[in-house]
Amino acid sequence: MKGFGAETFGDLYAEDYDAELGTTMDADTRESVELLTDLAAGGTVLELAIGTGRVALPLAARGLAVHGLEASDKMVAKLREKPGGDAIPVTIGDMADVSVDGTFDLVFLLFNTIFNMTSQEAQVCCFRNVARRLTARGVFLVETFVPDLSAFVDGHAVNGMGVTRDAAGLDIRRHDPVAQTIDYQRIVFTENGTRMAPLAMRYAWPSELDLMARLAGLELCDRWASWDRSPFTAAASRHVSVYGRAGA
Ligand SMILES: C[S@@+](CC[C@H](N)C(=O)[O-])C[C@H]1O[C@@H](n2cnc3c(N)ncnc32)[C@H](O)[C@@H]1O
Repeated sequence: MKGFGAETFGDLYAEDYDAELGTTMDADTRESVELLTDLAAGGTVLELAIGTGRVALPLAARGLAVHGLEASDKMVAKLREKPGGDAIPVTIGDMADVSVDGTFDLVFLLFNTIFNMTSQEAQVCCFRNVARRLTARGVFLVETFVPDLSAFVDGHAVNGMGVTRDAAGLDIRRHDPVAQTIDYQRIVFTENGTRMAPLAMRYAWPSELDLMARLAGLELCDRWASWDRSPFTAAASRHVSVYGRAGA
């Protein structure tokens, strides 16, 4: 999608991000914090695309040394407004580059955000640069959806997003099977006008992510269907995958 860069997501959604996720993510956030705390084992932690600190703040509250990387200063400004948000060091940058100092026992990238890098090249770079930032025992955790292309007809999918007395919404997606990109546009119509919410993503199958890890000298250590470590099967709609140094 032209004009959708690394910082575009935050520029568009920082203001409403926490309110829109609201309590819908609470249980997921709690479970993710449990698993991430276990994996960190008291060590140093880096969250790629830290956003407004949904997960980083509760991790820091558990005494972990959490660092963040984020493309959008608007998202970081929201993090800074929250209690404890000033204490988390955040580097403004692109998660494909991982230009941060130091090494980490746990690097993580949640909530489908690996697909916010809209080219295979950027995703490959991200794995490679994360590998350079891992300690000998360090692991890289990725949580993202398993692609589901079943709704697309002739490259497009359209879903109604609810109807009220004074508003209606539509989700329109366009799929490019060669680039593996999906451009999203959520359109809300109200009496006062139309609101557009675009998003650009490049999806990858779990097996492609595993290959990217191998190119970076990492290998898959664990894959679960959710934060509760339930088994990953063909029925899973997402995966929580943990990569460590090959042969370690
Ligand atoms: C869905 S939010 C996730 C935020 C947070 N990790 C969470 O789980 O709530 C996606 C975040 O990725 C950031 N982002 C998108 N592309 C990025 C990039 N190339 N490098 C760094 N951050 C990026 C956005 O600014 C936004 O904060």
